[in-house]
Amino acid sequence: MQYMPEPFKIKMVEPIRITTRQEREGFIRDANYNTFALTAADVYIDLQTDSGTGAMSDSQWAAVMRGDESYSGGRSYYRLMDAGKDIFGYEYLQPVHQGRAAEKILFPLLVTTPGQYVISNMFFDTTRAHVGLAGGRAVDCVCPQGMDSSTYFDFKGNMDVPKLETLITEYGAENVAAIVMTITNNSVGGQPVSMENMRETARVAHQNGITVVIDAARYAENAYFIKEREAGYEDASPIEITREMFSYADVFTMSAKKDALVNMGGLVAVREDQVLSDAIKTSCIAFEGYLSYGGLSGRDLEAMATGLYEGLDPDFLRYRIGQMQYLAARLTEYDIPFQNPVGGHAVFVDAGKMLPHIPWYEFPGQALAIELYVEAGIRSCDIGSYLMDRDPVTREQLQAPFEFTRLAVPRRVYTQAHLDVVAEALKAVKDRAADVQGYVITWEPKVLRHFTSHLKPVG
Ligand code: F0G
Repeated sequence: MQYMPEPFKIKMVEPIRITTRQEREGFIRDANYNTFALTAADVYIDLQTDSGTGAMSDSQWAAVMRGDESYSGGRSYYRLMDAGKDIFGYEYLQPVHQGRAAEKILFPLLVTTPGQYVISNMFFDTTRAHVGLAGGRAVDCVCPQGMDSSTYFDFKGNMDVPKLETLITEYGAENVAAIVMTITNNSVGGQPVSMENMRETARVAHQNGITVVIDAARYAENAYFIKEREAGYEDASPIEITREMFSYADVFTMSAKKDALVNMGGLVAVREDQVLSDAIKTSCIAFEGYLSYGGLSGRDLEAMATGLYEGLDPDFLRYRIGQMQYLAARLTEYDIPFQNPVGGHAVFVDAGKMLPHIPWYEFPGQALAIELYVEAGIRSCDIGSYLMDRDPVTREQLQAPFEFTRLAVPRRVYTQAHLDVVAEALKAVKDRAADVQGYVITWEPKVLRHFTSHLKPVG
C-alpha cells in the first residue's frame, strides 16, 4: 500500500534518541514495567497517546502570538466562539482546560437523581468516571460488530440501536439521564459512527425525551470516515458532515487535544438549551475560571480556533487516515492481528491473539507494550484487563472484552520511516512471541491503577 504523502513540510525539529536494547531493559525494569513511569527522553517513538502530542502549524504558532490575555472578553475568546459556532452550529460554547473538565462540569447537571443511567456507544475512561462521580451509572451499548476484531465492518463504533431501545424500556426513559455518542469510538479502536446511526440514535433518544451528548474528541476523523464510506456523503466536505452530525445532538464535550490540534484545551457546548447553558456558566466560573478563558490562556484559545479548521482540512485528513491505513497494511503483511479495519487515531493490536500463551490475568496487552519498548524504544499502552482494573466492591480482577495494545499516532509528528520501524518491531516480537512472559502486579493504588502500579514478569 502506498504511503499518503504529508501535505506539509517540516520547519522545526525535535531530536529523539535511539537507545540500546540493554539500556531499555534497565529503563523498563526501573519503571517497574509500567510504561507511564518511563522518562520520555528514553522513548524513541512515542505512541502512548494522540492526545495533546500533535505538532501545531506555523499558522497556529502565529495565532499564539496574537493571543489576547485580557481577563474577560478577550479578542481570542471571540475568535474561538466564531469558529465553534461556524463549525458546529451551537449557540453556547464554553472553553475549558481539557475534555475531562467538560465532563466534570456537564454530568452533574444531567444526572439529576442518583442511580440514573447514562448509555453510550462506549465510554472513554474519564467520561465513565465522571458519570459515576455524578451519581450515574454508565452503560456501554456498542454494536456487536465492534466486539469482533477480525471481521471488517465500516462503522464498528456504532450504537446498537435495538439494544438501546430495549435498555430504555427496561430502565424507564425517566431513569436515563443522557445518551453519549463517542465519535470516533476510542475504546473499540478509534472506530467511526455512521451518520445513519447518529440520526437513528438521536431519533430514539428524542422520542423518549432524552438528551443526546456527543463526546467529540475525534469528530473530524469521524467525518472523514463518513465521507469515505457512507453512501451520499462522497461529495460533502468534512465541515459539512460535521455540521450535520452535530445537528442531531443537544450538547457536546470535547477534548481539543486530538482533532482540534492543540496541546491543551477543551470545550463544552449547548445547541440551544438556555437553562443548561446558564448552569454550565456557573460551574465553569467555580471550577475552570471566568467564561471567556475557561482555564486556558488567550493564546491557547487562538491556537484552538485555528486548529479546529486545520483538523477538518480534507488534505490533512486524507494523509492522517492514510498514515493509519499504511501502518495497518504493514501489519497485515506480517500477519499481525489488529482491530480491523484500523481506526482514525490508533492501531489496536490484538495482543490476546498475538500472545495466546499469556492468560488475560497476566495482561497480554501490557506484555506486548513492554516488549515493543524493549525491542525498539516504542511506547504504547495496554487497552485490556490491566486497564480494566478490579471490581470496586469485590476487588476481583475484571476481564476485559479484548486484550489490545494501542499504538496511538500523534498528529503531524512521525514519518513513514517511523511507522516502518514500528511495523518491523512488531514483527520481531511476533517472531519470538513464545518467549514473551506475562506480568503480575506487585503494588497498585485503589483507583486508576494503570498509571502508577508496579509489575514484574511472571516466573
Ligand atoms: N473522550 C475521549 C473519547 C477521549 O479519548 C479522551 C481522552 C477524553 C474524552 C478526555 O479528554 O484527556 O482532554 O481530558 N483520551 C486520551 C487518550 C487521554 O489517550 O485516548 P482529556
